[in-house]
Amino acid sequence: MAGPSRIKVNHHHTFYYQYEPTLLDAMEAQEIPAPYNCRGGYCGCCKVRLLDGEVEYVQESLLDLQDDEVLTCCCIPKTHIELEIPDE
Ligand code: FES
Repeated sequence: MAGPSRIKVNHHHTFYYQYEPTLLDAMEAQEIPAPYNCRGGYCGCCKVRLLDGEVEYVQESLLDLQDDEVLTCCCIPKTHIELEIPDE
């Protein structure tokens, strides 16, 4: 895909991925209050719903995830993506 991936969060934050190490870092750089705890793929705190697009895992997720769930501490966007952070 040409150009940076566009990330849309909870239908109102939209920004472009700037090659941060993980999606969680990318959201933090935008001051989006993304939940996290371990940053290592095992607590599940950073789990969000992937409404559209694809991600690429850069760190192994140690949890069982539904097809539409991703751990933001473990992945980066592969395409333009749309996320929903639960209970915001
Ligand atoms: S912060 Fe613990 S799994 Fe992502």
